[in-house]
Amino acid sequence: MRITPGQRDELIQQARQARAHAYAPYSGYAVGAAALASSGRIYPGVNVENAAYPSGICAERAAVFTAVGAGERQILAVAVATDNGGTPCGSCRQVLSEFGPEADVIMVDADGKIVAEMTVADLLPRAFGAGHLPRKT
Ligand code: THU
Repeated sequence: MRITPGQRDELIQQARQARAHAYAPYSGYAVGAAALASSGRIYPGVNVENAAYPSGICAERAAVFTAVGAGERQILAVAVATDNGGTPCGSCRQVLSEFGPEADVIMVDADGKIVAEMTVADLLPRAFGAGHLPRKT
């Protein structure tokens, strides 16, 4: 999905701002995300860890779930801000695929430098999707 340079800059800025609010006392790996939905609105998210480790959530899924809860159904682009420009985990790729298979994913480091940019489909080839499920009659 093509986004404007202005939208890209705004997404990156919001992901970096959100990262300041990440709750990552166990891993020390703070992640901020910002998802641009088809309405034009941007939804931030951060990773929120927990002493019971599996109860935490990644920044990308937090952002997408917030967007969906606000009535959004299509994600156009996502910026992910980390210390080193890390890529979204497998679970986040799967969730992004549900709402934006052609969405741009922009990964930036602590300085805001774009380390990588590609689509969700590039990150998750041959994704499992609704089409694989049996049809309800
Ligand atoms: N994390 C994310 O927020 N997004 C990813 O896609 C990769 C991992 C978080 C989960 C955990 O809080 C920390 O980074 C270390 O794995």
